[in-house]
Amino acid sequence: MNPLKKLKSMLRHPLRSAVKAWRYVIYKPRFAKYAWSDRVNGARAITCRCVSLGENVYIGPRCRIQGIERYNHARFSPSIVLADNVSVQQDFYLTCASRVEIGANTAIAAFVTITDIDHPYVDVDQPIENQDLVVSGVAIGPDCKIYNGAVITKGTHIGRHCVVGANSVVSGHYPDFCVIAGNPAKIIKRYNQQAGVWQKTDPEGKFI
Ligand SMILES: CC(C)(COP(=O)(O)OP(=O)(O)OC[C@H]1O[C@@H](n2cnc3c(N)ncnc32)[C@H](O)[C@@H]1OP(=O)(O)O)[C@@H](O)C(=O)NCCC(=O)NCCS
Repeated sequence: MNPLKKLKSMLRHPLRSAVKAWRYVIYKPRFAKYAWSDRVNGARAITCRCVSLGENVYIGPRCRIQGIERYNHARFSPSIVLADNVSVQQDFYLTCASRVEIGANTAIAAFVTITDIDHPYVDVDQPIENQDLVVSGVAIGPDCKIYNGAVITKGTHIGRHCVVGANSVVSGHYPDFCVIAGNPAKIIKRYNQQAGVWQKTDPEGKFI
């Protein structure tokens, strides 16, 4: 927002602006990147230094956004990027040891989980929690909608303008313009560019 517009808006809504200014003073030095237009509203825990927010990002109540910088003896450099206009509703849970990137204008509904880690269980002589993490970054494209209760697991890449259905468990790579749903999640619809309509598909994404 340009400075004059910002000043006008502050004079018009002094209380709202005071809260915003307070948040800005608190969060700006803590986050890797934080803009005046961002709103972090009652989050439970955020590893702010690992998190870059674009403009006009909203993070709702009780969200936990956690960069994992060490686990057992391993060290990590987590990078969590929420691009411009991303909104994240309540009780979102994100853990990241490598990179999680959420594209501009993507909306995440309540109770969604995104993680780029797994706890391997291969060594039967070690408690699972003591085994070294398996890590692989997650990328969600711009203009997507992730519905309530979805779980997005490590290594997942979702293209632009995709929908993830409620309570889906998503692993893998998905192209632009598709609807993904179920457990395990499959492509259920794609946008047919030639016909200009959304059409049902088989799980491989072929129109039916
Ligand atoms: C993903 C979603 C958007 C798809 O909507 P849609 O395009 O209208 O899909 P359809 O209803 O035509 O369903 C197509 C098929 O996918 C299945 N399907 C749809 N959503 C599903 C889901 N979340 N999990 C599993 N299967 C699902 C349907 O049962 C249907 O199967 P069929 O072809 O065997 O009959 C929708 O189903 C959904 O999950 N909405 C979430 C709503 C919500 O949580 N709202 C809260 C507001 S924030």
